[in-house]
Amino acid sequence: MIETKNLTKKYGNLTAVDDLNLTVKDGDIFGFIGPNGAGKTTTMRILVTLLEPTRGQASVNGLDVRRHGKKVRRLVGYMPDFMGVYDDLKVFEYLEFFAAAFGIERRKRKSIVEGVLELTDLQSKQSAAVDSLSRGMQQRLGLARVLIHDPKVLILDEPASGLDPRARIEIRELLRELKRMGKTIMISSHILSELEEICDHVGIIEHGHMVFSGTLEEILPRLGIQSKVRVKVADSQDKAVELLTALPQISQVRISGDYIAVTLHEGQNGDGIIARTLVNADLDIISIQPEKLKLDDAFLQLTKGIVH
Ligand SMILES: Nc1ncnc2c1ncn2[C@@H]1O[C@H](COP(=O)(O)OP(=O)(O)OP(=O)(O)O)[C@@H](O)[C@H]1O
Ligand SMILES: [Mg+2]
Repeated sequence: MIETKNLTKKYGNLTAVDDLNLTVKDGDIFGFIGPNGAGKTTTMRILVTLLEPTRGQASVNGLDVRRHGKKVRRLVGYMPDFMGVYDDLKVFEYLEFFAAAFGIERRKRKSIVEGVLELTDLQSKQSAAVDSLSRGMQQRLGLARVLIHDPKVLILDEPASGLDPRARIEIRELLRELKRMGKTIMISSHILSELEEICDHVGIIEHGHMVFSGTLEEILPRLGIQSKVRVKVADSQDKAVELLTALPQISQVRISGDYIAVTLHEGQNGDGIIARTLVNADLDIISIQPEKLKLDDAFLQLTKGIVH
């Protein structure tokens, strides 16, 4: 649905986006992750036709952003990183204004505005001044605005920045709902843990380059992060520790309360081998539970320059 090929953007001598290749599949939520200045906003602005690339291609639904700007703008909803200031404008006036700007007929505007207010749970605030809304509500209003022309693709630049944990969960729920509605969503962030739970794929960008893209499960082993597994057995815990310690795939085995904490060597994915070993020795397994690896860990590894 979204694709870039060797996309490059230079500002004078500075290369903000550098031969960037990315693909977002139809119906996916794609997390676009990178530190400050990595080139996320620049990439997104090219995709929504606000900036011209210096070189390379970008397309949405097969439409080149340069040649089919108008069609691309119909297809995408873009939420910028900053909202701007709207003085005394009320929430519904703000949305009606954008409905008009999108060319939606006057008689249809009211019901469309009501629909997006409901979806973003802002009905109770429809007569409040935009500037009086809390940050979380403003972010939801930003999403409501993006949804007015019912775009297939949403490009959201840090929609969860500056939100408290509860507001972040609300945005996450809303994004899940939008995915269920069939939208393709590209969302940027440098707060990684907030994307971990909702993204189908992530792309990690650094200095304008895509250093990784794929599913979390694909990325983490390649980053050389060690997987950890919690193993519980009914009895003979000592025997289990002995067997697991002997496995070449495993770097550390430690008893921690009622479970055994197993650390695997880099790149190893161990629940299979652990299960086979214990079953072969006739031990009673209660559970084998991989510890969820955090995207934050992956990111730290990246910014330490560990990635090759
Ligand atoms: N209009 C501009 N003129 C000159 N340089 C720019 C311009 N816009 C962005 N840059 C530079 O391009 C690089 C990429 O910026 P960009 O805003 O795309 O990064 P980002 O990943 O969105 O960062 P952040 O996480 O801080 O939002 C930065 O070095 C930035 O200073
Ligand atoms: Mg940015």
